Amino acid sequence: MRSMSNSIEKPRIGLYNVTKHFKIQHGRSLKQVAVDLVKRRKATTNFTALHNVTFEVYEGEAVAVMGRNGSGKSTTLKLLTGVLRPDSGHVRIRGKVGGLLEVGAGFDPNLTGKQNIYLNGSILGMSQAQINERYDSIVEFAELGDFLDTEIKRYSSGMRARLGFAVAVHTDLDVLLVDEALSVGDAQFRKKCHKRINEMKAQGKTMFIVTHNASQVKQLCERGIVLERGKVIFDGPSEKALQVLSKGLGAIAEPKNPAAARAVNS
Ligand SMILES: Nc1ncnc2c1ncn2[C@@H]1O[C@H](COP(=O)(O)OP(=O)(O)OP(=O)(O)O)[C@@H](O)[C@H]1O
Ligand SMILES: [Mg+2]
Repeated sequence: MRSMSNSIEKPRIGLYNVTKHFKIQHGRSLKQVAVDLVKRRKATTNFTALHNVTFEVYEGEAVAVMGRNGSGKSTTLKLLTGVLRPDSGHVRIRGKVGGLLEVGAGFDPNLTGKQNIYLNGSILGMSQAQINERYDSIVEFAELGDFLDTEIKRYSSGMRARLGFAVAVHTDLDVLLVDEALSVGDAQFRKKCHKRINEMKAQGKTMFIVTHNASQVKQLCERGIVLERGKVIFDGPSEKALQVLSKGLGAIAEPKNPAAARAVNS
């Protein structure tokens, strides 16, 4: 694994003290709504989804992003694709970043599998000619055979994930983001995806994978980032990250990354 102190090579992606707030609505009774209106009280409060998040990822690295539901994993990915902007801090990207944000994102349910390959492919930066050229290989990877002319609203979530993954691994992205899409496929398809991810790593692509699956983390990612309530509590070897995830920071003798210790103590 390349260390954070690597100064010769430039990082592919970097988040520097990134904080992201969301406004959340209160549940209010009708009477409360009226009182708030008269008193000009705001119906929303600020919720901090990410707090001072800092990390860098280099070429050929595969990083697992872990944490409980609501810890800020998907928000982190959305900041990397530019869907969201940070309220403070910086996001730096070198190269093309994209991927599978949520199962089915980038698909139109009323279009067929074939039409969606073209739609999703162009969203992920491929030209029409490139999609034409790679179409057969995408279809072969997805193994959806007879269903390619069916509208994808009739697909199962696993079938949608197959199609999304097949398109994503045929792009020229430098950084591939995968938000839980791997968890949906069956064992055989997962195996094929794992093989493909390892090939892409060998080509110097950067993989950023959100998953709750420990064996996937062990097989694919040498590095793990653990988020807890929007803070990075651990960034280091994935085996240790898994221990932190299941037993807390006490499970490891000393945090690998001093920033992790600071995050916990702050
Ligand atoms: N657009 C939004 N508006 C308001 N709150 C949001 C928005 N997007 C995310 N949040 C909140 O930010 C927090 C982090 O959400 P996020 O989707 O990043 O979690 P996650 O780690 O991906 O969780 P999961 O494992 O369930 O996918 C959650 O509390 C969520 O409710
Ligand atoms: Mg999520």
